[in-house]
Amino acid sequence: MGELRGTHVPVLLERCLELLAPALALPGAVHVDFTLGLGGHAEAVLERHPDVVLIGLDRDTEALAHSRRRLSRFADRTHLVHAVYDELPAVLTDLGHRVFHSGLFDLGVSSLQLDVADRGFAYAQDAPLDMRMDQTTGMTAADVLATHGEGDLRRIFERYGEEKLAGRYARAIIAARATQPIERSGQLVEILQAATPAAVQRAGHPAKRVFQALRIEVNAELTAVERAIPAALGSLRVGGRIVVLSYQSLEDRIVKREFADASSSTAPAGLPFEPPEHAPRFRLLVRGAELASDEEQARNPRAKPVRLRAAERVRDEQTGEAS
Ligand SMILES: C[S@@+](CC[C@H](N)C(=O)[O-])C[C@H]1O[C@@H](n2cnc3c(N)ncnc32)[C@H](O)[C@@H]1O
Repeated sequence: MGELRGTHVPVLLERCLELLAPALALPGAVHVDFTLGLGGHAEAVLERHPDVVLIGLDRDTEALAHSRRRLSRFADRTHLVHAVYDELPAVLTDLGHRVFHSGLFDLGVSSLQLDVADRGFAYAQDAPLDMRMDQTTGMTAADVLATHGEGDLRRIFERYGEEKLAGRYARAIIAARATQPIERSGQLVEILQAATPAAVQRAGHPAKRVFQALRIEVNAELTAVERAIPAALGSLRVGGRIVVLSYQSLEDRIVKREFADASSSTAPAGLPFEPPEHAPRFRLLVRGAELASDEEQARNPRAKPVRLRAAERVRDEQTGEAS
């Protein structure tokens, strides 16, 4: 494992703990950390709730190894599992649980992934273009750049990076790879810089959006979020709570949509009353999306783009239970 440079400060830690506290106080509470990472949020939950059992998931084996050491003093009530977060229902069953009480998604890249240069996530450091969160499987960013056609690359940069120069960058990559394979982040940054017209006034680094887009493609991140949120909501027990921290608008849009669906009545319009079986399954705990305070954003740059959404399960349509 590479050396860890920055110290990781969990984002919106106190707010997450406050929102989850009533669920963590339920008898026999099981807390699922869907994105265990370096275990910062999970450690705080375990410290403050001595009876809570933790199930921690991560697709990154390095992150799991780090958290396993960090949380070793809680080993008798933690289960750390190498899994993609949409696999939760199967993980729960394997561990003998049907439902969970409290859940946290802290989406995005961990400081381990960003700070360890050899993972290739950061455009500021020259490294092999890997970008896989799970290094045991799948295509790397270099594979994507070597094999995708111009149209596919353009679509990836447009869709996942919201990059206005997507077509120009895709063309430049196709031209560059004809002479030399693009294997390092430094090479890609040079190609993108050369393809950016001097006259274009740009907010931020020219490589920022392309790197984000490649990371989302390599890890199929949006598909995983699209599957994971409904799966998680479906396994949360009545009175249970879930908090999601998103760091880019594409993810936040998915979370917003899933939460809105789950917290809406399914009664046909025009009925004089709401039949109980059509009542919302969830209640939103915050209005819209919450941001980190100015003070936290100044202290922790990772908190700048965060959007927090939270919900509580109020009805189980299978069992008829309601709170
Ligand atoms: C921002 S970090 C979490 C940091 C953590 N809350 C902490 O306090 O250290 C996000 C983590 O989610 C993991 N991750 C991203 N997508 C995932 C997925 N689909 N399934 C499982 N883990 C995922 C990443 O590997 C990364 O370690």
